[in-house]
Amino acid sequence: MRKKENISSITAAKGERVLTMVTAYDALFAKLFEPYCDMILVGDSLNMSFAGKKDTLSATMDQMIYHTQAVCNGAKNSFIIFDMPFGSYFDEKSALENAARVYRETEADAIKIEGGADRAHIVRHLCRNNIAVVGHIGLLPQNVRGEGGYKVKGRDEKESESLIRDALAIEEAGAFCLVVEGVKAEIAAEITKKVSIPTIGIGAGPDTDGQVLVWSDMLGFFEEFKPKFVKRYLNGAQLVKEAMRNFNEEVKSRAFPSQEHTY
Ligand code: KIV
Repeated sequence: MRKKENISSITAAKGERVLTMVTAYDALFAKLFEPYCDMILVGDSLNMSFAGKKDTLSATMDQMIYHTQAVCNGAKNSFIIFDMPFGSYFDEKSALENAARVYRETEADAIKIEGGADRAHIVRHLCRNNIAVVGHIGLLPQNVRGEGGYKVKGRDEKESESLIRDALAIEEAGAFCLVVEGVKAEIAAEITKKVSIPTIGIGAGPDTDGQVLVWSDMLGFFEEFKPKFVKRYLNGAQLVKEAMRNFNEEVKSRAFPSQEHTY
């Protein structure tokens, strides 16, 4: 059994070994993923791939807590990160109340919040109250309606400078790790050099300290769309469809259950 990661081992990994993070939303898959990743993120992406919603914005604390409890049950030896849903950390007071609820009601090790310099005061308040925080900068899925779409960041000098400011502000506020999403590779590489905490990229090129993918994307279960940065390591949807077709045909033709599956 692998040794469970902790904040010290994750921060010490910078420059020494590459970190892997994957999302999980339930006990069954979390248990399967556990031996092969350093951290598990209960991402609010579950609102899209699991709950079938058009974006992450309607995910709730109750929903995220339920899924995190399931993931913690399945992956008892993993460092688990709770993704704070939209609206749960607009101000310091509600952020701390909600983060404290996460620690009270789940076994998650850390929480993740989206936002750069504008959210640094929230990160600072949480860290001062002993909440372990993962930052998340760049393309922020919770901003999709406010910005009118998903837009890759770092395309010009102004955006790049602002991303670097964001990364430094979140590090200074006390986050121990930083997700960098949908950012031009050169800027993600520069951010990675500038901060002393590990950066975990998603759609941010090869030079971050680690990579994260959404499990239903990387295993090919989510078929609605496939962003350029996603590599499918399995054709999950295809395999499920074939299995279901076989089951349906075998039941209808009375090939199943055979003697082997009969008491
Ligand atoms: O919700 C999520 O799955 C995430 C990842 C995209 C990092 O935040």
